[in-house]
Amino acid sequence: MESHDITVGELYDQFVAPTYGRFPIHPKRGKGVDLWDENGKHYLDFAAGVAVNSLGHAHPALIEVFENQPADLLHCSNLYQPRGQGELARMLSRQVVKAPGKCFFTNSGTEANEGLIKLARRFGEAVPSPSGKPRREIISFLGSFHGRSTGSMAVTGQEKVRTGFGPLMEGFVHLPFNDIEAFERGLTDGSVAVFLEVVQGEGGIHVATPEFLRAVAAICRERDMLLFFDEVQCGMGRCGDLAGWRCVSGSTEIVPDGVSWAKGLGAGFPIGAIWFRDRPAGERSLCELLGPGSHGATYGGSPLACEIAKVVIERIVTDNLLSNASELGQSILNEAERRQLPMVSGVRGLGLMIGFQLDVDRLEKSAVLKDEGRVASVAVVDALGEAGLLTVPAGGDVVRWLPPLVACQEDVDKAFGIMEKVLNDLMK
Ligand SMILES: Cc1ncc(COP(=O)(O)O)c(C=O)c1O
Repeated sequence: MESHDITVGELYDQFVAPTYGRFPIHPKRGKGVDLWDENGKHYLDFAAGVAVNSLGHAHPALIEVFENQPADLLHCSNLYQPRGQGELARMLSRQVVKAPGKCFFTNSGTEANEGLIKLARRFGEAVPSPSGKPRREIISFLGSFHGRSTGSMAVTGQEKVRTGFGPLMEGFVHLPFNDIEAFERGLTDGSVAVFLEVVQGEGGIHVATPEFLRAVAAICRERDMLLFFDEVQCGMGRCGDLAGWRCVSGSTEIVPDGVSWAKGLGAGFPIGAIWFRDRPAGERSLCELLGPGSHGATYGGSPLACEIAKVVIERIVTDNLLSNASELGQSILNEAERRQLPMVSGVRGLGLMIGFQLDVDRLEKSAVLKDEGRVASVAVVDALGEAGLLTVPAGGDVVRWLPPLVACQEDVDKAFGIMEKVLNDLMK
């Protein structure tokens, strides 16, 4: 074992900003669904970097790109036209969205959503309200999460994310999720765009109903509003299709006007993207609203990032990871129903986005919460981590499983074994 002058915990305490409530786990190495810490302790990684490592750790196809692409070209300016960026944009249009449109590349989901906000603002100017005033109101849903920059935080439908950062950007309305009447009531002449996470991840794994999705899409069409899907967490195969909204709606009818991706697109390498549909926007096409000088990102869509993302999409398709995600996800839901885990009052999700709803009343009586005054989801995720299963809290009362898309039934069986034991122990 290597010897160090300072423990990892001390390094974080002294030198790393405390923006995250971090668990005392010090990952060192990973392979597939497995992860090991500095001392060789093994974990089954069902957090996957919060829905990032879709191909698992150390996937040979990604390592090959890292070995070869930087030797050719690591980065070049967006003033030029490296082929890979164009090819990835074509894949996103043709294979993922399956509609004509164009892409802009970023480094994260937050930045991708910022691009969509700017697009909506331009569209509101190009296609104003009947009175001639620019439309400036962007609608999103309670419980949603879209990022932590000033713009994406203003879209986010969670008060706790926005608190203390005012004055916030204006022009955002948050309406109840899966409630079409409230949606209709919330519309005004100034409404210009809708941001929708078809499976809310950070908000606790809430899946949009197909009826809600179809109704919102129809109203956006009628009122010439832009329909944006935030696929940062639920996209790129996690739900069982390269497009989360197709999984939820069960059809190919709905075509969005804008999509944002990140996380699973790079599978561990930072890349985000937005796509906008080739559709009219006043005198021009929506694709032309962000013209030269209107938007940019120095690192966005670098040759390395694009090569990685191309390989990620190829592997998801050729290795049948879409059907694996939907079949394994269904098997998790069935198994959870069969096992009736202690302290879990319900399980929901789609594909490999699974939320275990904790029975907080019962947990509050258990020693782990009473002694330490902790949030239920955090206490359970902590105990699971200690027992070798990495998961993610969502809100105060949900534990998320977001395993890599390469996970298999054996991994799931092991995860259930650990979870059942840990919850039984907590109940004692
Ligand atoms: C749905 C959704 N949108 C946006 C973001 C922000 O992405 P990033 O952390 O890459 O900026 C997240 C992150 O959790 C997310 O889940």
